[in-house]
Amino acid sequence: MSALRSVSALPSVSATTAVVILAAGKGVRMKSARPKVLHSVGGRPMLDRVLELAARHAGEAAPRLVVVGAQREEVVRHLAESDPRAIPAVQEPQRGTGDAVRCALAALGDTTAERILVLSGDVPLLAPATLFALEAAFGRHPECAVAFLTAIADEPGAYGRVVRNLHGAVTRIVEAKDASADELLVKETNAGVYLFDRAFLADALPRLGTSNAQGEWYLTDVIGLAVAAGRGVEGVVVRDATEILGANSRADLARLESALQTRLAAAAMAGGVTLLRPETVTLEDGVTFEPDAVLEPFVSLTGATHVGAGARIGQGSILRDTKVGPGVTVKAYTVAEGATIGAGSVVGPFARLREGTELEEGVHVGNFVETKKARLKKGAKANHLTYLGDVSVGERTNVGAGVITCNYDGFLKHRTEIGADVFVGSDTQLVAPVSVGDGAVIGAGSTVTRDVPANAVTTSRVAQRDREGAAVLYREKRAGKKDRT
Ligand code: UD1
Ligand code: CA
Repeated sequence: MSALRSVSALPSVSATTAVVILAAGKGVRMKSARPKVLHSVGGRPMLDRVLELAARHAGEAAPRLVVVGAQREEVVRHLAESDPRAIPAVQEPQRGTGDAVRCALAALGDTTAERILVLSGDVPLLAPATLFALEAAFGRHPECAVAFLTAIADEPGAYGRVVRNLHGAVTRIVEAKDASADELLVKETNAGVYLFDRAFLADALPRLGTSNAQGEWYLTDVIGLAVAAGRGVEGVVVRDATEILGANSRADLARLESALQTRLAAAAMAGGVTLLRPETVTLEDGVTFEPDAVLEPFVSLTGATHVGAGARIGQGSILRDTKVGPGVTVKAYTVAEGATIGAGSVVGPFARLREGTELEEGVHVGNFVETKKARLKKGAKANHLTYLGDVSVGERTNVGAGVITCNYDGFLKHRTEIGADVFVGSDTQLVAPVSVGDGAVIGAGSTVTRDVPANAVTTSRVAQRDREGAAVLYREKRAGKKDRT
């Protein structure tokens, strides 16, 4: 099952579309050294989310132009890594959204693209299905010049207002700063997502003016030009307003995060996962589940974490890139990264599984146990206060409390190999490189520096001596010297 990924099943569009992503704005209100579009929502930069949506919608091969301006070096560097196919288009200075799209079309050059999809780099939660609705609206009109997304807002604030005539047809978009008192009462706002007929757009952009409150070239004015030319204009209302939430401030970023978390939690629950307190859980879109998994409060699952059928993740546990098998119990406050937990295993509370931990079926790892590059085979147990690094532990072997693999000599890491059915007594130090044969028994408190043969009983501690009655003498001698301060 992959409930969180089901949207990828949508078909790709038929007409050739180039995508323009607006990302040149300064994002002053973020008060950040980092470009706004590189701030993350759900663990991923907003720009990456928009690029992925663009590729998914228009096809991987469709041109993706990113209009960059403020802090563009950093954005361009990021693009080279995260989406090398994306084409940066420089807009300097930033003179409005119309000017931004003009720069993008110039960078696009000759292309067969018939349509231009305009997205914003700071509007990361748009659903693929919504873009298909936009596409469908465009297709319904034989002479369509532009279809764009709108939302009905209780507090339309600074958004552009969608002005419609008595028949409900769009006549223009007016920016809040340019709107009359009546226009400001309009609750339908422009989301800033458009699908344009490319030829019309290319023809209209040079005709835009700057006689407006901000002295900018407004992309929104293209809508009025299309109406005047008698071409089709479609405003498509988005029902889930969180899809078109943009980020201008840290508060907006927090709102986006919470909207995404609500969506991920809902998808998990729809896929058969129990979330005891969904509002406290943190998920990322790469996380997958099988039915009947249970997440207790304040669990955080990130990266490529997978939770198998019926597994229970205890309160406050933090799992990154971790595969949890079916029927596993992860008890409270376990931290795991890059680990695999086999079916029916029991881990925690307060366990720490580091990268390269592989627990086979039915393994027990208890409280205050740290593992790293550790393979624990079927039914092995390490229940208390132990460090297992660079180690293989055989089937059914029991590692006692306080056992330490001394895997690092200050310069190099060394391996410890422990066989099957071994009993490692409490407080044993295994000084690597060292191996313990099948069936061996190591006495508590041993320091093991040489290989232990199979089925040996090994001890390496100072022999115990008992001086009968000596404690009485000892107390008498000391009695007069008690420190009374
Ligand atoms: C714009 C719309 C408004 C709409 C709102 C939705 C215009 C004139 N107005 O408003 O109707 O309600 O988006 O969020 O288009 N950008 C550039 N270069 C520029 C200016 C902006 O690349 O010169 C980018 C920004 O980085 C941002 C996007 O375009 O990603 C939108 O710009 P922004 O200033 O945030 O939008 P508004 O002007 O508020
Ligand atoms: Ca603006």
